[in-house]
Amino acid sequence: MDKIIIEGGNTRLQGEVTIEGAKNAVLPLLAATILPTQGKTILRNVPILSDVFTMNNVVRGLDIKVDFNEDQNEVVVDASGDILDIAPYEYVSKMRASIVVLGPILARNGHAKVSMPGGCTIGSRPIDLHLKGLESMGAKITQFGGDITATADKLKGAHIYMDFPSVGATQNLMMAATLAEGTTVIENAAREPEIVDLATLLNKMGARVRGAGTETLTITGVDQLHGTEHDVVQDRIEAGTFMVAAAMTSGDVLIKDAVWEHNRPLILKLKEMGVEVTEEERGIRVKSDTAKLKPVTVKTLPHPGFPTDMQAQFTALMAVVNGESTMIETVFENRFQHLEEMRRMGLHSEILRDTAMIHGGNDLQGAPVMSTDLRASAALILTGMVANGTTVVGKLTHLDRGYYKFHEKLANLGASIKRVSEA
Ligand code: EPU
Repeated sequence: MDKIIIEGGNTRLQGEVTIEGAKNAVLPLLAATILPTQGKTILRNVPILSDVFTMNNVVRGLDIKVDFNEDQNEVVVDASGDILDIAPYEYVSKMRASIVVLGPILARNGHAKVSMPGGCTIGSRPIDLHLKGLESMGAKITQFGGDITATADKLKGAHIYMDFPSVGATQNLMMAATLAEGTTVIENAAREPEIVDLATLLNKMGARVRGAGTETLTITGVDQLHGTEHDVVQDRIEAGTFMVAAAMTSGDVLIKDAVWEHNRPLILKLKEMGVEVTEEERGIRVKSDTAKLKPVTVKTLPHPGFPTDMQAQFTALMAVVNGESTMIETVFENRFQHLEEMRRMGLHSEILRDTAMIHGGNDLQGAPVMSTDLRASAALILTGMVANGTTVVGKLTHLDRGYYKFHEKLANLGASIKRVSEA
């Protein structure tokens, strides 16, 4: 098991950092490569992450040819032959996001069997909105033995109102609707940049998706889709994580090619705290002096609200700001587990249901801690940089799902951090 060891206390990050393609964009994009019956799909700027390997295997499991050229960050998919229609538990249990293959397999094959995703540490994460939407498009859905089976000779366009703007459900339904008969309207759709990226790829494949990035998506079904080429959008959460890292270490970091608009909710909160955030030609510069920062209240919401995927990292920043900050988590019901680990490092916080009060500005001490989920692992590493002494972060399988060479990037910016393998 690998561990990350950080000597913290007087870290001040400085320099420039490069950001990868977005994990949460590339996973649905890979699911979309199942749809074309003609030609190859080439995805570029693909990040080298364990979740990407898992999704590649899900697609390969359908008898589709997938080549990942890691040196070029490029995946080439050829789904032009006959494909299978089963996504087994082996993969879905590893990664919940595999559920987004349900819509594309069903749309293409008229039949799909995908394992039901199991438990998750950050919340219960049901998939009722995915299934309800597919049912309104005429799919017959049954659940048995841990599998979901969906059948529809031909999906039909439908008017779908989503009770909550779920990212995964929007992606699943959008992909299913591309090959349906007639027009599908999805109201209260998710508006994340990753949704826009998926719609862009689908349209390049010949689909007719309108309204991506707004709350109403209109998809007019077409008979077939074809392969194309596409660059994966940049990872706003990785970019945001480095913005927070710079802010909490009184740093001065240029996050190269970061997209201001994608990180607007985070940037506005950083500015409210007193962090200097400026848009430069080559990216976004974040400069701060932690002694001058003020506590804030943050509430996570679907995009364009403050992203839940930045919540844990932002609480690490709150921990170094003098005074009492408040974090309200409205998207997932159990996403404060990192605060329990940070308590081991001397953080004073109280959690009442969806609200955490962070009493920041006290001295933190290094300690052995365990990642509880992907973003928690990043938050603990960031906290380790400002805690006095040695912090050892374990369970890095979470980190490897979403951050490429995180410790190397931080070390290049001046952190005293290394990764060690232990038998
Ligand atoms: N929800 C339902 N029913 C559904 C679907 C969702 O009640 O059918 C609820 C969930 O339980 C949750 C909320 O809606 O409380 C949000 O879930 P959503 O479906 O929007 O999330 P997701 O598609 O499962 C993606 C990201 C997550 C990110 C969320 C929210 C991917 C692969 N994952 O998950 O990313 O937190 O959107 O922005 O895109 C991460 O990267 O660390 C991560 C967890």
